[in-house]
Amino acid sequence: MTADKPDLGTLEERAGVEIAAAGDLHELTAVRARYLGKKGSVAALLRSIGELEPSERGRVGQEANAAKQRIEAAAAARKGDLERAGREQVLASQRLDVSLRGTATRTGHLHPITHVTRDMVQFFTSLGFSIEEGPEIETEYNNFEALNIPADHPARDEQDTFYLDDGRLLRTHTSNVQIRVMAGRKPPFRFIAPGRVYRHDLSPRHSPMFHQIEGFLVDERVTFGDLKGVLYGFGRHLMGRDIELRFRSNHFPFTEPSAEMDYACVLCDKQGCAACSQHGWMEWGGCGMIHPKVLERCEIDPDRYQGFAFGMGIDRTAMLRYGIPQLRHLFEGDVRVLEQI
Ligand code: PHE
Repeated sequence: MTADKPDLGTLEERAGVEIAAAGDLHELTAVRARYLGKKGSVAALLRSIGELEPSERGRVGQEANAAKQRIEAAAAARKGDLERAGREQVLASQRLDVSLRGTATRTGHLHPITHVTRDMVQFFTSLGFSIEEGPEIETEYNNFEALNIPADHPARDEQDTFYLDDGRLLRTHTSNVQIRVMAGRKPPFRFIAPGRVYRHDLSPRHSPMFHQIEGFLVDERVTFGDLKGVLYGFGRHLMGRDIELRFRSNHFPFTEPSAEMDYACVLCDKQGCAACSQHGWMEWGGCGMIHPKVLERCEIDPDRYQGFAFGMGIDRTAMLRYGIPQLRHLFEGDVRVLEQI
C-alpha cells in the first residue's frame, strides 16, 4: 500500500476498478474495508495530510474527502446492483405457479363425547358445582361397600364387575367419587364427577367402557324437587329446548327414594324405533335422595343433612343430542363416522 506517498487519483481509480470487479456482497464488503475502513487507504491518506505544507493541507484535505465520497457512492451503487442481480437470479431460477392446487390440511375436531362432557361441565359450574375426579381402578369399599352395597348384594352381579387380581376393581360407576369427596369433609357438597366406567356388557346400547357423570349435592333442606329442577335445567341446556323426562321408581342401595330417568327418544319422538328398542324412551340414568346410611358412613348427620345424587351416561346423552343410533359408533374410532357427527 502506498499510504506514505498517497496519490489520490491512483487510489480512487484502483478503488473504482475493484468495486466494479466485486462479484458478490461479500467481496464488496472487503473492498470497502480496504479503502474506506478505519485502517483503509483513504484514512491513511487523510492522516498523512499533517505532513504536508500548511498551505497545501486545506486543498488536499478537500480533494481527499471528495474522493472518499465518490468511492462511497460507487460502493453503494455496486451494492444496489449486486442485490438486484441476486433477486433477479432467484426469480429466474424459481418458478412459482400460483395456479397449482394447494395441499389441504385436514383439521380434526373434538370427539362428540368430549363436546358433550365440556357442555355438561359448563352447565354445572355455572350452578356452582365443582368438578371432581376419582380413579378408574378402585377399592371394593369405595365402589360398593360404602355405598351400602354389601358383598352379597345382587346389585354387584347387576353391575358385571371386572375384578383385578389384587382384589381391586374397575369402577362400575362414578358413584365412588361420592365417598372420596365426603371422606373427612363436612357439608355442604356440590360437585359433578365425569369419567370412564367399566362393566362386562356389550350390546347396541352397551359397551364395556362407557362414560358417566355423577352429580351430587348435600346441604340442609334439600328435596327431590330440587333434584328434578336441576335435571330439567340440565336437559334444557344440553338440547337447547325443553326435553321430556320420565321418572320411574327404582332401587339403588345408596339412594332412597330412587328413580330411573328416561328421556323421550328424539329419533322417533316417542313413536318407537330401533334406537330406543321400540320403547319411545331412552334410559338416561339413575337418581335419588342420598341414603342416610351412606351419609352416616361418611360421618355426616342424616338428621341435619340431606342430598340428592344422580348418575347418567354421557354416551347416551351424546346419542340423544346427535341422534346416533349405535353406541359403538362413538368408540370404534372410525373417522368417517365421527366426521358426520
Ligand atoms: N351409580 C348408578 C349407576 O351407575 C347411578 C346412580 C347415581 C343412581 C347416583 C343414583 C344416584 O347405575
